[in-house]
Amino acid sequence: MSGAILFLSGPNLNLLGERSPEIYGTETLADHERRFTAIVAPAGFSVSSVQSNSEATLIEAIHEARTKAVAIVFNPGALTHSSWALRDALEAFNGPKIEVHLSNPAAREPFRHLSTVAGAVSGSIAGFGALGYELAAHAVLARLKA
Ligand code: DQA
Repeated sequence: MSGAILFLSGPNLNLLGERSPEIYGTETLADHERRFTAIVAPAGFSVSSVQSNSEATLIEAIHEARTKAVAIVFNPGALTHSSWALRDALEAFNGPKIEVHLSNPAAREPFRHLSTVAGAVSGSIAGFGALGYELAAHAVLARLKA
């Protein structure tokens, strides 16, 4: 199997490496993408990366993925806790979808306990820091091969 995996990142994740390193670690988004790509590329998949601070751009990237990508790995940032529109967009995508969070939102402030997207994805990985993206790579490959 081959095709592109959309590696999608929401608001403020462009600041990874500088932003609250005690919570999110010191690696940049580019570092996470590299680790992810190192696992999926040998299996024949390319990675198309989109980071945006705009909900509309994220929704449009998911729409485009309907014809251009075979799977989505998505960290929606704080939009996880508020965006029903992102959830609807994900429901319109048929391939595997993995939700990733570096921190464990369920163990943080109450407003982070709701994930609007959790019910629209294949599965969620949270709380493992940078390892989360590697786990997501293995999860997405398993789903694509199934
Ligand atoms: C996050 C968790 C969210 O609550 C937060 O708003 C983020 C990052 C994570 O990766 O742990 O921006 O999605």
